Amino acid sequence: MADLSTKIIQLLDSQILNESYASNFYLALSYWCDDQGLKGCKSFFLRQSEEERIHMLKIYEYMSEMGVHPTTPAIEQPPMNYTKIKEVFEKVFEQERSVTKAIHEIVRVSTEENDYSTLNFMQWYISEQREEEAVIRDIIDKIKVIGDGGQSLYYIDKEVDKLNLQIQAAEGGEEQA
Ligand code: FEO
Repeated sequence: MADLSTKIIQLLDSQILNESYASNFYLALSYWCDDQGLKGCKSFFLRQSEEERIHMLKIYEYMSEMGVHPTTPAIEQPPMNYTKIKEVFEKVFEQERSVTKAIHEIVRVSTEENDYSTLNFMQWYISEQREEEAVIRDIIDKIKVIGDGGQSLYYIDKEVDKLNLQIQAAEGGEEQA
């Protein structure tokens, strides 16, 4: 017997779709960056794609723990073509904002339904979204300062690669803790 309401099951199923789409979206961006010779951005999006897959799998696990069989959704083809790296990061920011909105909706409904398990489960996603949005906002701010034409791309890619190292070091620290 399921311990979740129909409404929460629908929202969690839809969140599986959001996270799966995000994973594919970042995968597509990773190889767009590869084509442009932006190896730092490629690694950034590849890691992001893997993280989104983990976000998706956590929902499968939670639903399963709660006695629900999650839906494995069909995923829409993500966009393939961009003209500027600034446009890429702006689209990413938009994407993350829409995921944050969807997460807040799950939190709102679980509060309304006194569903404390889902409320507790979603806390991790709230912090994760806040961190992701802050990282992307920071990159967009850097692009505004550096510019995104010609040689600026080299410096943007270096900045993103610096970020890759910082994230890697932070993740290493978490694993050891
Ligand atoms: Fe898991 Fe960035 O959405």
